[in-house]
Amino acid sequence: MRRRPATSRLGVSAALTMAARGVGLLTRLSLGAQRSQVQRALRRLLSCPGTVAADLRREEQFSGSAETGSEDRIPKKRFSEVQEERREQAQRTVLIHCPNKISEKKFLQYLSQHGPINSHFFYESFGLYAVVEFCQKESVASLQSVTRTPSRDTEAAIPFRSRYFSLKLRNPSSQPLEQSRVQCSNQSSPSSKRLFELLCCAESVDDQLTALLKTFQLTEENTKLRYLTCSLIEDIAAAYFPGCAVRPFGSSVNSFGKLGCDLDMFLDLDEIGSFSAQKASGNFLMEFQVKNVPSERIVTQKILSVIGECLDHFGPGCVGVQKILNARCPLVRFSHQASGFQCDLTTNNRIALKSSELLYLYGALDSRVRALVFSIRCWARVHSLTSSIPGAWITNFSLTMMVIFFLQRRSPPILPTLDSLKSLADAEDKCIIEGHNCTFVRDLNKIKPSGNTESLELLLKEFFEYFGNFAFNKNSINIRQGREQNKPESSPLHIQNPFETSLNISKNVSQSQLQKFVELARESAWILHQEVKERQSSNQPWGLATLLLPSVANNKSFVKKRKKPASERIKNLLESIKSSSTEHPTDTNGKRAVNTQA
Ligand code: CTP
Ligand code: MG
Repeated sequence: MRRRPATSRLGVSAALTMAARGVGLLTRLSLGAQRSQVQRALRRLLSCPGTVAADLRREEQFSGSAETGSEDRIPKKRFSEVQEERREQAQRTVLIHCPNKISEKKFLQYLSQHGPINSHFFYESFGLYAVVEFCQKESVASLQSVTRTPSRDTEAAIPFRSRYFSLKLRNPSSQPLEQSRVQCSNQSSPSSKRLFELLCCAESVDDQLTALLKTFQLTEENTKLRYLTCSLIEDIAAAYFPGCAVRPFGSSVNSFGKLGCDLDMFLDLDEIGSFSAQKASGNFLMEFQVKNVPSERIVTQKILSVIGECLDHFGPGCVGVQKILNARCPLVRFSHQASGFQCDLTTNNRIALKSSELLYLYGALDSRVRALVFSIRCWARVHSLTSSIPGAWITNFSLTMMVIFFLQRRSPPILPTLDSLKSLADAEDKCIIEGHNCTFVRDLNKIKPSGNTESLELLLKEFFEYFGNFAFNKNSINIRQGREQNKPESSPLHIQNPFETSLNISKNVSQSQLQKFVELARESAWILHQEVKERQSSNQPWGLATLLLPSVANNKSFVKKRKKPASERIKNLLESIKSSSTEHPTDTNGKRAVNTQA
């Protein structure tokens, strides 16, 4: 990993100045005072609790967890093991809305009457909440047995007994003030100002990517809250379908989730099926009397419809419930107010659970994978290539597939193809879902680590160059074989679904969105390319900062800046890059070297 030379570290002051102009930060810094002020700010940043540095230290504590999967040498748990452990943990856990001022000690003493507590944390989300994990499940029942349904004069309560409680103080003035502040865990992604501070602290582009990952990845607490939310929804669904499971999938569990990402849930009714799969005795076989409907899709729609009604009418904290039953994959979308998660509940996409497992495996195989994916996801977000609103945009899932494909194409490859993971599978890994072969080796320890030692900096640059030049018009991206293939259909972007191979996961992407992606990729490759040559220069913004800072990203005409007059900030940036390029005449073709066929 290349370290930034001491002189070039001062480049952050130039970046600060640019951002200060662009986003109104540090507006009164005079040129001479900048460096010492920046250094003081960084020292403060590194020493204060609640800062990026403190966050990084906290993240370190969790880095050994199976969810983060960033340490190469630690034996990794299988996805199914992690899921089961977390699910069982969530079933022993309760969510409590607390008064704003509370004595943590007394609170824990009070709850301990119901049994020993394994862990707890507080967080804020329109009020103060506590997540309390008991050591035993029985403690939850004990707490429920002494909990009453509130009665109000003006409204009537639906007497639903869940694991989401509200704690009231009988006598609020009796809480001593010195004991009334609790430490809250942060559940949201950092502001662009904090991101900016973070990038300033880093000493190399590799460090920038790693720091970005550690700051944006789901924390241990946020992960617990996600499993708890699923578990609370499971309790509601279990009223109709005893023995069902609600499992998180997508970025909440595949190790690529960013703080604030949605919570995808899968209502698994096969758990119920497994009871009836018990061995038949003698000549008899017992079946449930059931209602029949014309198709599996109608089954899904009927189940989701009734669960949607349930969440709407009885689900504590479930608001804005929408039943989107005519989508290709029917779903119920709602907000879970207490956790702040936007939830999508589905029930017929078991294959998506399997692709989450596959991504988890890829994320755990090499620590560079997640760092690169997070940076590309952030890059795409700040440039509005992705959006939380459905549309013709590239999705984070597609971007992740593109990174995996790119890493399969390196020499030597950093990631194995899905076909080679399939060849390593043994009998117990065999998995066929709806006729699709979803088999791959699940034990991470059976996969040989890559001999590739390329730096993150190089990979980031090469990613942009690779996709800036990719023949999207004729080739499709396919992680199963790890090589380009002829596109089977005419969508602008074709990324084969790894298991349902006839599906294109990016069918929604329009030609103009793809074009925007390609142009931004070329632009970013060029900027990084220039940077490598200007590393010694002391007054250039550098690395990820150049690509991610709001001062650059907010310029909507970033892609078209050669056609339209650029804003002052971008113009300054380009001017400064151009002027130093003239000191390296052989480098001036950097941009033109990028192939423009798409
Ligand atoms: N999925 C899929 N095919 C698609 C879209 C999604 O198989 N065309 C599956 C993937 O397993 C994906 C999951 O559904 O991970 C959830 O989709 P989505 O929420 O769109 O993506 P995430 O990976 O969760 O990313 P984000 O952080 O943007 O939510
Ligand atoms: Mg998601």
